[in-house]
Amino acid sequence: MKMKHMIVLVALLALTLAACGGGGADGGDTATTAPPATGAGDPIAGADVYQGTCSACHNPDLAGIDGLGLPLAPSEFVASMSEQDLADFIAKGRLIDDPANTVGIDMPQRGGNPSLSDQALLDVAAYIKAQN
Ligand code: HEC
Repeated sequence: MKMKHMIVLVALLALTLAACGGGGADGGDTATTAPPATGAGDPIAGADVYQGTCSACHNPDLAGIDGLGLPLAPSEFVASMSEQDLADFIAKGRLIDDPANTVGIDMPQRGGNPSLSDQALLDVAAYIKAQN
């Protein structure tokens, strides 16, 4: 009798743990902390990031806009960088006090959109690279 109770208890405990474990699949807790980047960008998601954040300065077709964002395709700068290095560049931007800045206006950090996650930066980097 006692042994039987033990088994039921252990089984219940296992069920409870299984129900609680592996959380996050429903993605309901991403409001405050962005999920960690996976290490690879998704160019399809990146297209949305680009049109939403970057196109105003870099042109919807990536050709650049005179006096604003430089062309991103074709671009030797973009083509020469790895996806990760490009995402890191976008995170930092290239402000006007940077000697490499030629236009005289900021390439803002994260394209001026602080809500973009590291994964979103990898995604947009993958999208831009795919156009080169
Ligand atoms: C407010 C305008 C603005 C926005 C928004 C913006 N950029 Fe830029 N970006 C610039 C400017 C200006 C430069 C060039 C700065 C310089 O070197 O003179 C630049 C440069 C760059 C470069 C380097 C190009 C090269 O040949 O050196 C990359 C890559 C880039 N931007 C990517 C992005 C991405 C991706 C986004 C969106 C997440 C973005 N930018 C959003 C203005 C912007």
